[in-house]
Amino acid sequence: MPPVGDLLVRRAGRIVTNDGPPVPGPAAVSVRNGVVAWIGPDERVPWTITDAPELDADGACVLPGFVDPHTHALWAGSRREEYAARLAGESYTGGGIASTVAATTAAADDELLDLAALRLGRMAANGTTTVEVKTGYGLDPAAELRLVGLVRRLAERVPLRVEPTLLAHVVPAGVDRGAHVAALAGLMPAAVDAGARWLDVFCDRGAFTVDEARTLLRAGAAAGLGGRLHAEQLSHTGAAALAAETGCASADHLEHVDEAGAKAMAATGVVGVLLPTATLSTHGGWDNARVLREAGVTLALGTDCNPGTSWCESVPYALQLAAPLLGLTVPEAIRAATAGGGAALRRPELGVLRLTHPGDLLVLEAEHEADLLAHLGAPAVRTTIVGGVPVSGARTIH
Ligand code: NIG
Ligand code: FE
Repeated sequence: MPPVGDLLVRRAGRIVTNDGPPVPGPAAVSVRNGVVAWIGPDERVPWTITDAPELDADGACVLPGFVDPHTHALWAGSRREEYAARLAGESYTGGGIASTVAATTAAADDELLDLAALRLGRMAANGTTTVEVKTGYGLDPAAELRLVGLVRRLAERVPLRVEPTLLAHVVPAGVDRGAHVAALAGLMPAAVDAGARWLDVFCDRGAFTVDEARTLLRAGAAAGLGGRLHAEQLSHTGAAALAAETGCASADHLEHVDEAGAKAMAATGVVGVLLPTATLSTHGGWDNARVLREAGVTLALGTDCNPGTSWCESVPYALQLAAPLLGLTVPEAIRAATAGGGAALRRPELGVLRLTHPGDLLVLEAEHEADLLAHLGAPAVRTTIVGGVPVSGARTIH
């Protein structure tokens, strides 16, 4: 559950707000009752807000918290053999998903919650303040419903904003495709009751077809679930155009997106979620950001945290790949990881430090946001603040 508190962050070296140019330092930001109440030069902090607990940024850069719009953080088991085989030359096919389904199905609720909470704790330490969490390692409708309920319990347990998503991942072995799609479509109202806000469909070779994904997205929309799609990840299928046709909030991965798909996304406001840590595993290519940018698509950046293609809880690591490999500039990369994630989750108040917006922000271990990208592998985030409350790494509060 996101906390609600008061905090005055002083002596920031600079504040990136995503609401106009960065505020030069020394600067301050005040959070009252969990929302941003004041931003400006340190020497002009109004006396009316100096009674809040203070955090001395000591010249470091302050950013909006990272909004990670795409993770599969709820799983048990390991895929280390598959990882090692990939390094030895095998390609990723998605076949390993079944082993995670078996381990997740065998795990007790509390074990799954503990594992996921540990992962979200690492995310918080790396600056994530909002995280989307998908189900998807249950497959069977009843198992997926169990996982939706666990994501809701996870959201109650951790001090982050959590967006729960039901993921239609793959058709289980030995199950009739049509029957499975119909069963999932019938599950949507129960998924909403169990706490899901989104429906995501893995629409790709080896997963769901465009027609199956359309059926599922329509059923989800009828039950009140917003749509998102794993689109054009392993092959070109036309899923980006389907995301546009069905009014999805985002299409994600997109390594094989073409110009027509990107244009359809831009025309209907579908956000393109880039997941460079997964692209490392799938060798999907690095041209998608250019195709999407040229079409005018809003970009977001996520970790895709999952056991198969992207065992990663670090947005800073994804950012460090995104800038040189995807060809994002520093402002593009930072915006994608903050306001871009907010747009992908249709939460425009997230990732933008503006009066009345949630007080979710980071004090970096750096004077400037460019250093976050340039200083490879170094500790990136000193303090992560959600709703005006330090949730990781608080230092020098008085
Ligand atoms: O985002 N593409 C599908 N799903 C995940 C990987 C799932 C897995 O391999 O466990 C992804 O890459
Ligand atoms: Fe994914």
